Amino acid sequence: MVAAMQGAPGEALEEISRSRGGALYDDGEHQFIWLGLDEVEGGKAVQINQYVVRHGDRAAILDPGGAYTYAMVVANLSRHLSLDRVDTLFFSHQDPDVSSGIGLWLNTTSAKVYISRLWTGFLPHFGGVDPERIVGIPDQGQRLDLGGGAYLEFIPAHFLHSIGNFCVYDSRSRILFSGDIGSSVFAPGAYEVFVDDLAGHLPRMEGFHRRYMTCNRACRAWADRVARLEVRMICPQHGAILRGAAVRQFLDWFRELSCGVDRLEEIYGA
Ligand SMILES: [Fe+2]
Ligand SMILES: [Fe+2]
Repeated sequence: MVAAMQGAPGEALEEISRSRGGALYDDGEHQFIWLGLDEVEGGKAVQINQYVVRHGDRAAILDPGGAYTYAMVVANLSRHLSLDRVDTLFFSHQDPDVSSGIGLWLNTTSAKVYISRLWTGFLPHFGGVDPERIVGIPDQGQRLDLGGGAYLEFIPAHFLHSIGNFCVYDSRSRILFSGDIGSSVFAPGAYEVFVDDLAGHLPRMEGFHRRYMTCNRACRAWADRVARLEVRMICPQHGAILRGAAVRQFLDWFRELSCGVDRLEEIYGA
């Protein structure tokens, strides 16, 4: 199954395969790659997306995941670049679907791990982790220069859902990796790679966001921060990639979302 790409400037023209992924952006020097759909057996674990930003000789994996998907991620990654290019591992937050493979990744790359400073002291509990290779991101975020004017910017996304949480904005492709924000849940076999209009997609997003996100005040702060960026695609850790009109539609919807402690009585069943 493939999904045709749009022909915007700098956008990859290759077709995107569900199982093998492909480049969402490619200008020769710089690529933003989706590593394909991990269809975990029988829906026993949450589906996760992995993305790689390659710039020249270096590469960053965004939310590489745990042991459960490690072999698939390495296999798909090797279609695009060799593991020794990977010098950056970005963890949006501390959850097992993001970070529990840290020992494997540190053993097979020379990369440094970037995660909120709130979580640096917890990662060594996974075992096989050299604390010297973990970099704590300050609450307000930071930029990671890639050279040639390109950079990755760690955008604060705290309390959405983790207390120490970041998204990544890729300045060259103008793609936002949003972590759990913007995630969606599909029925088995109904997965779509891209969503261009949010209206029919909202039922796949609403339940997750209402329960996992902390409160509307946090949603609003994040949406206002992201609205200052030029964003062509929102790439979440779970479910479909948002592009076209869906980007603005999602920011508008998320800004007004009632969730988490806003709905505490309902969650407690009071
Ligand atoms: Fe999470
Ligand atoms: Fe997640």
